[in-house]
Amino acid sequence: MADKIYKVVAIDGPSGSGKSTISRLLAKALGFQFLDTGSLYRAVGLYLLECGLNELSTDEEINLALQDLDLKYQEDKVYVKGVDYSQLIRTPQAGHYASVFSAKRAVRDYLLDLQKDFSKKMDLVAEGRDMTTVVFPSAWIKFYLDASQQKRAERRYLQLIEIGKKVSFDEAFKDIVQRDDRDMNRAIAPLKIAKDAIYIDTSFLSVQDVINKMLYYCNKN
Ligand code: DC
Repeated sequence: MADKIYKVVAIDGPSGSGKSTISRLLAKALGFQFLDTGSLYRAVGLYLLECGLNELSTDEEINLALQDLDLKYQEDKVYVKGVDYSQLIRTPQAGHYASVFSAKRAVRDYLLDLQKDFSKKMDLVAEGRDMTTVVFPSAWIKFYLDASQQKRAERRYLQLIEIGKKVSFDEAFKDIVQRDDRDMNRAIAPLKIAKDAIYIDTSFLSVQDVINKMLYYCNKN
């Protein structure tokens, strides 16, 4: 019997575009599984940092370290060697190293099949930077969520303040600009708008407005 084909809603966009919150709620509304691929890159980034690696490390060194990484993603939580990393990865430092190490071929290759496998088990809402272009190029429906850098920095700043992190708005803004540069200009799987993606600017929309728009397109398909 042929394998069942599951539906994938693939969502890309830059840091602070509201992707995670929106994708999680969209998955709930559709009854699909949710996959936050940024959390996988964050966990790998933190793990490689703990292994003593940095941006100058070679793919060989990274591959060696990755051999011992037992990475699991279950019910919106990410585990490294059985330890729950879900909170540890939510720091600006983890975000920085996720972005740095995500430019490495060894890291992207390591995560590619793991991400694809999720679509073999259940209908899926997957969000990240290369969902629509590399990981799920034939997704059922594709979205690109965007917002101005100013708006995204405001959101990032408020999020960090809310969880008790000490940052200034200028630091949050600088972080967004640097991350955009790294995520959009890297050689492998850069963030870009897929030709067949539905583009939504979330700058002046509420979370619910964006979800309603996305549900409209999903129901139309
Ligand atoms: O979405 P996020 O901020 O949690 O992602 C952290 C970093 O991981 C982001 O700056 C780039 C990288 N990333 C990636 O390269 N590809 C993905 N599919 C998801 C995240």
